Amino acid sequence: MARLSVNVDHVATVRQARLSIEPDPVSVALMAEHAGADSITMHLREDRRHIQDRDLFMLRRIMKTELNFEMAATKEMITIAQDVRPGLVTIVPEKRQELTTEGGLDVKTRPERLKADIQTLRDAGIEVNLFIDPLPDVVKLSHKLGAGGVEIHTGKYADAETKREKLIELKRIHDSVMLAKRLKIRVHAGHGLDYHNIAAVAAMTEIEEFAIGFSIIARSVYAGIDRAVRDMKELVR
Ligand code: PXP
Repeated sequence: MARLSVNVDHVATVRQARLSIEPDPVSVALMAEHAGADSITMHLREDRRHIQDRDLFMLRRIMKTELNFEMAATKEMITIAQDVRPGLVTIVPEKRQELTTEGGLDVKTRPERLKADIQTLRDAGIEVNLFIDPLPDVVKLSHKLGAGGVEIHTGKYADAETKREKLIELKRIHDSVMLAKRLKIRVHAGHGLDYHNIAAVAAMTEIEEFAIGFSIIARSVYAGIDRAVRDMKELVR
């Protein structure tokens, strides 16, 4: 049965819109755990636009499930990861102007540097996933660089407008998932997944975990976080 990691970044987005103390992503993360989340994801961005350092450190101390710390592979973030010691770090690309993470990690440009960063994190006892586009050579290179797993970017599938485009993207995702399995690395998936488009990817039973944020936090405005998490958990099953 696939696990659900609830990304609470957008609770912090609302809080930061007024530089207030609420809504609090840490409280919402605990409520998500009560509702059945298997893991909580927080992305600490270089510009601190949503999650703040306090959120990450506080959650780590009081949470009951696992922390998936999403971060760019910068010196600053690696030092923070060594302090926080999450179960999992997911390395993502980060651009200042983007609304959200727009594409998978570029693993080809500076592979030696990425390999060293993965090793530094693993030496601290942290598992590492690379957030990558569903491309076979990128899955293979991630494995070669020492990542224990990958998170397959499902954004193109989520944004596909026609049935044909969706099927093409699903096949890409499926091929990458199967390749990761053959290489015996973890395979997670996420980005842009919602209550309507999750079924086709959840049908790929090889995917071990889904990282889902925006759609759950958006639905929680109407239905409450407990219901929003329970409904998604049911669907990823
Ligand atoms: N996985 C990664 C690596 C991400 O960067 C994000 C967005 O922060 C997600 C999953 C969740 O995407 P969404 O908010 O669209 O569900």
